[in-house]
Amino acid sequence: MQVEPQDTLNSPAKISASKIAGLEAIETASRDEISALQFKRMQQSLRRAYDHSPFYRKHFDQHGVHPDDLKGLEDLARFPFTVKKDLRDNYPYGMFAVPREQLARLHASSGTTGKPTVVGYTRNDVDMWAQVVARSIYASGGRPGDMVHVAYGYGLFTGGLGAHYGAEKLGCTVVPVSGGMTERQVTLIEDFKPRIIMITPSYLLSVLDEFRRIGLDPRQSSLEVGIFGAEPWTNAMRQEIEDAFGMDAVDIYGLSEIIGPGVANECVETKDGLHIWEDHFYPEVIDPDTGEVLPDGQKGELVFTSLTKEAFPIIRYRTRDLTRLLPGTARSMRRMEKVTGRSDDMMIVRGVNVFPTQIEEQILKCTGLAPHYQIELTREGRMDTMTIMVESTHTASAHSDRNGSSVELSSHIKSVIGLSATIQVHEPGSVERSGGKARRVVDKRELG
Ligand code: DLL
Repeated sequence: MQVEPQDTLNSPAKISASKIAGLEAIETASRDEISALQFKRMQQSLRRAYDHSPFYRKHFDQHGVHPDDLKGLEDLARFPFTVKKDLRDNYPYGMFAVPREQLARLHASSGTTGKPTVVGYTRNDVDMWAQVVARSIYASGGRPGDMVHVAYGYGLFTGGLGAHYGAEKLGCTVVPVSGGMTERQVTLIEDFKPRIIMITPSYLLSVLDEFRRIGLDPRQSSLEVGIFGAEPWTNAMRQEIEDAFGMDAVDIYGLSEIIGPGVANECVETKDGLHIWEDHFYPEVIDPDTGEVLPDGQKGELVFTSLTKEAFPIIRYRTRDLTRLLPGTARSMRRMEKVTGRSDDMMIVRGVNVFPTQIEEQILKCTGLAPHYQIELTREGRMDTMTIMVESTHTASAHSDRNGSSVELSSHIKSVIGLSATIQVHEPGSVERSGGKARRVVDKRELG
């Protein structure tokens, strides 16, 4: 397969904007230059998907479109969407555009059922990913030589390794701590003195509590920049974190299906929304009900098309994240407003993506439980808590039976989804019923 090397496409010779120290030329290029590059890459990406991914060949044929139909960027709207179910239906390798042997890495995230959704990267993809994360850390205020404490989880989740490779690429010293063991997080921050931390905002708050519990002043720590993402957080939360640590808190966005962290990032000097790295990921915002493309500035569901990925080209992927597109400020590339919510029912609980259907599957495995349930999310101190209210199949069933069902359900949820949940088994008929769409999730957590 012919994939044009990224540095040729992105070379200073093609981008005339003056180079600003530390920034790649494309970050300050004109809108026309960005669009021209996007169009060229979009043609290549559609072709690569059609020629090499069995899924896309069928998908485009079924919708009567061909890569040659793209005559301008706006023609992308003629192509069909890709949704999470497509990844699940083609599990594990049906969407890939390279033979398995050419994959340098696999990652996976939770799907709507027990099976994860799998994504893959060639060596070039891993390099491009590291490049956009390096760019993100730079935009956040990181510089070569800085020490970066990475507290995103390492493993199938893209957070840890994504941050890690990007920080190395920028020339930083990486401390690959991963998540958990909060006491040790504080010890390592105190001893190693990192300038930058990459972590989910909710977990940083637990780290903050630990600082205070052991009587350390977080403002005296070495941390000057925090790069927060993987879950929604508000400007109110930014204020709390910045005040507590005396640091700059910036937002990083991404999702496994597109690459992982580093699809978009805020600039520390403006903190006015996240610049989308549009030379690699083409954004659209659509009306979630009709699928119609909305003009910039209007709020809807974010959709991405990959422009340079080799192993896993993805065309018009519906992220389900709600936001709007805004013009560039600190960089030429457009911004997305902070993500405020989702157009589906996916919950993010302690950093783990969970769908109500996954809980439902586990309920249905348990004896004595009816499939009527509601999930309540609250926040105790800093921690998300999940309570599942479910019905017994029998009225006035023995206390020990209910206890048994509840232990069974909580152990299934722990082992399959990886989360602890409180289970309440109620009388038949007591869980809220609805006339139409069941309200499965009651989210009582205050964002921020
Ligand atoms: O959460 C990748 C990531 C890791 C991003 C570390 C940033 C930092 P997934 O597990 O596939 O990937 O989950 C993707 O998380 O569709 C959003 O709903 C949510 N999300 C990610 N970043 C943000 C953010 C990683 N900055 C899903 N603000 C996405 C709000 C976010 N939501």
